[in-house]
Amino acid sequence: MAEYESVLILDFGGQYTQLIARRVRELHVFCEIAPFNTPIETVAAKNPKAIILSGGPASVYAPFAPVCEKAVLQAGIPVLGICYGAQLMASLLGGSVEHAPSGEYGKTPVHLDETASLFHGLPSETSCWMSHTDRIGTVPPGFRITASTPACPIAAMENADLHLYGVQFHLEVTHTPEGCDMLRHFLFETAHCSGDWTMTSFMENAIQSIRSQIGSERALCALSGGVDSSVAATLVYRAIGDHLTCVFVDTGLLRAGEGDRVESLFHRRFDMPLVRINASARFFASLSGVTDPEQKRKAIGAAFIDSFAEQARTMHGVPFLVQGTLYPDVIESGSSVARTIKSHHNVGGLPADLSFSLIEPLRMLFKDEVRDLGRVLGLPEEVVDRQPFPGPGLGVRILGEVTPENVGILQRADAIVERVMRARGWYTAVWQSFAILPNILTVGVQGDGRTYAHTIALRVVESSDGMTADWVRLPADVLEEIAHAITSEIPEVNRVVYDITSKPPSTIEWE
Ligand code: XMP
Repeated sequence: MAEYESVLILDFGGQYTQLIARRVRELHVFCEIAPFNTPIETVAAKNPKAIILSGGPASVYAPFAPVCEKAVLQAGIPVLGICYGAQLMASLLGGSVEHAPSGEYGKTPVHLDETASLFHGLPSETSCWMSHTDRIGTVPPGFRITASTPACPIAAMENADLHLYGVQFHLEVTHTPEGCDMLRHFLFETAHCSGDWTMTSFMENAIQSIRSQIGSERALCALSGGVDSSVAATLVYRAIGDHLTCVFVDTGLLRAGEGDRVESLFHRRFDMPLVRINASARFFASLSGVTDPEQKRKAIGAAFIDSFAEQARTMHGVPFLVQGTLYPDVIESGSSVARTIKSHHNVGGLPADLSFSLIEPLRMLFKDEVRDLGRVLGLPEEVVDRQPFPGPGLGVRILGEVTPENVGILQRADAIVERVMRARGWYTAVWQSFAILPNILTVGVQGDGRTYAHTIALRVVESSDGMTADWVRLPADVLEEIAHAITSEIPEVNRVVYDITSKPPSTIEWE
């Protein structure tokens, strides 16, 4: 990413680190997240226009507190410390940090010094989002106090000559209404960034670099129809044209009509070479009698790999495999604490005789950037605004055995949920909205007769990354419309229930 001016974010384990990165990128400045202890030589080699020290859960005086080299603050590069990052800046440069008599959490009134570099032009009395127990006790020599709250006399500090700034509050969250302007002041006035990070320029650079990487060789891409693989495939197709072949595995566990939709868009409209494999019989055979969620995921993952590998073997001499890996996956895989809650499936576990070099053109992008890139590439809105869909498909939304019959019921319910959510303007306002078939039969009454039929559960959640989620308080009339449509259009269903749990303790998918 040497083509762009960049900002380096040193990660001290804060819950909002990725959010800081997204805010910086939204202002059209490229940034990367690196571990807190990145050596100064590595930092300098990246030639950042600015450095941001993230928040973190530790206390700076704790025995194993994460610390960056003091040289990071002395390299002449503008630095912004946020929460723990500000406390660390204070303690490294000769100020002090103290345990506050009472912590501050949530929205807090704050007084800003309008003459400060980060705050000029902003209202002097506003609010900010606090989440801390420690606070800066004294500022280092050469610094001045630039903001305060009732419980935190030093809510911000600066040494404008050295371009060093610290804020105790979280300017990256939307609950700090002036946060975006503060960040803008830091990036553009203090660090003199120009804002050269746009998806149009990214696309042009990516096409060049994919071309030089693949040369005159050929590449394969597992296309699912989801946003990430669709954007990755389209980008690579722009770079190498017919040297790319997309493989679409129809697992039989996809949304209704998905195979035809993918084929008509990519093959017919974009003229991309596309192999469509109808593998539903293989998937249903491998799922026969399987009810345990992890077994199911493994069976689906294995059937997928087998179908894809079979196709790949017929295409001799294709050295490259395109994958839609995103930046959050790259950050996650670099972290030490990855625990398997569910086995996610992708094409990573291919047999040894199929060794590909990976092309991951989206590995520096966040999801919202991928959507923007998709628009720049001319993908239609119905692909770009697609909600996430799990790799194992409807298989993890059917409890108990997965059969063609119950997939058929769930596909119809899923289509109704999407139809009503789109019509009522909710589809793109939430993270995910979908139906689940819990395989629970209950008694109902339809016409004059008793029924004993399926229940559909409805799950609608908001989330920023899928790691945590809250259930959406959908208006009652939207819920009613969905329930009415499902029970009247699907004879096998006589009841609809709404899932009102957040993640944690639940997960988003039911299996
Ligand atoms: P959970 O159910 O773990 O889901 O709360 C978090 C997010 O991940 C999606 N998901 C998957 N995505 N392969 C995927 O590509 C998978 O195996 C998979 N399982 C869950 C889920 O839809 C939600 O957005």
